[in-house]
Amino acid sequence: MKYVTAGESHGPALLAIVSEVPAGFALTSAAINSELVRRQSGYGRGGRMAIERDEVQVLSGLRFGRTLGSPLALKIDNRDWANWTERMAQEGRPPRDLVLEQHPRPGHADLVGALKTGAQDCRDVLERASARETAARVAAGAVAKAYLAHFGVEIGSYVTRISDVELPAAAIERKNGVFSQTKVEASPVRCPDEEASARMVAAIDAAREAGESLGGWFTITATGLAPGLGGYAEAEQRLTGRIGGALLSIPAIRGVEFGLGFLAGTLPGSQVHDPIICADEAGAFGHITRASNNAGGLEGGMTTGEPLVVHAVMKPIPTLASPLQTIDLKTHEAVEASRERSDVCAVPAAAVVAEAQLALVLASAYQEKFGRDTLADALTAFEAYAARIAVR
Ligand SMILES: Cc1cc2nc3c(=O)[nH]c(=O)nc-3n(C[C@H](O)[C@H](O)[C@H](O)COP(=O)(O)O)c2cc1C
Repeated sequence: MKYVTAGESHGPALLAIVSEVPAGFALTSAAINSELVRRQSGYGRGGRMAIERDEVQVLSGLRFGRTLGSPLALKIDNRDWANWTERMAQEGRPPRDLVLEQHPRPGHADLVGALKTGAQDCRDVLERASARETAARVAAGAVAKAYLAHFGVEIGSYVTRISDVELPAAAIERKNGVFSQTKVEASPVRCPDEEASARMVAAIDAAREAGESLGGWFTITATGLAPGLGGYAEAEQRLTGRIGGALLSIPAIRGVEFGLGFLAGTLPGSQVHDPIICADEAGAFGHITRASNNAGGLEGGMTTGEPLVVHAVMKPIPTLASPLQTIDLKTHEAVEASRERSDVCAVPAAAVVAEAQLALVLASAYQEKFGRDTLADALTAFEAYAARIAVR
């Protein structure tokens, strides 16, 4: 499954075109919308999210609730467009009173984007660099999630840190990296621990009060995965790189770790690698399993069949209510950076975007292994594979 998005933050709409979609699986706009709502929520979002009510319109690729095997075109209207029709008009001349954005925000694409493209108005850059675009990614990811559900794959996420407030490490270890999503969804910051959740909310309030912004850490998980997705033989088959790249393509994501992550570099091999054992009880793919999951579900660029556990770090939001110093692009005078209506913290939303990115990579990996054309053929191949490896 591949996707491409289009659309400016304050343009008429966002679009996602999802291609290489298998034929014959059920998809509803309601399923896509519920993912869009999850991305819009989370404590710390700004005024824009109060304006938008993201809803998808499926323009192609679906007939009577089933995918046709042709590209899906997904459209999400921007409600805010009504306030920007002149400043963001597709045609005609700029309005006389148009104020050019010439005070680039540190931490954003504003300056380098304007240098690179020759834009005189940073808005030409920031409209597209804005993470509003991630709504389209989430819509595309919802298609991948609907497909993966047929193979028993469930994807979730939770926040482990907002600035210096952390989900206690012991709580994460107890759950082996995977948390019930019911508790997570009930938290305003996607944190499964009520006490840590409340402290994260307080930290966001304090940041808002101080004109600051916050980043944090989150974890994305996938359970029910077949072993052997991805590949070890060619660089581009390796899921480690594909998942890492997909997550790092999300604006503001600055690092990704798998399982034990960077800690693996501090411990001897005997404390890092997961012993292979034969369990008394057979799982969906047989008796062979692991005594631990420090690898986070990937070995040799392939899924091991253990839960996929991936951690990511998000930098603080670059648009600040108390702006940093920048320069005026015309006069080179020191000025305050522009202020856009902005989130104070978007770590919970970024976790939902990351779920979508992970789903798209995993859906492609299932298609590579079990066939691209139809869900029915892929399920037949999947069952044969599961039966083959289960007898070993
Ligand atoms: C879900 C989400 C929401 C975001 N909201 C904002 C925002 O309201 N204001 C802002 O300045 N940056 C926001 N960002 C971060 C910027 O988009 C990001 O820092 C910027 O595009 C620079 O990209 P880079 O950090 O990859 O260099 C958000 C990011 C995500 C993933």
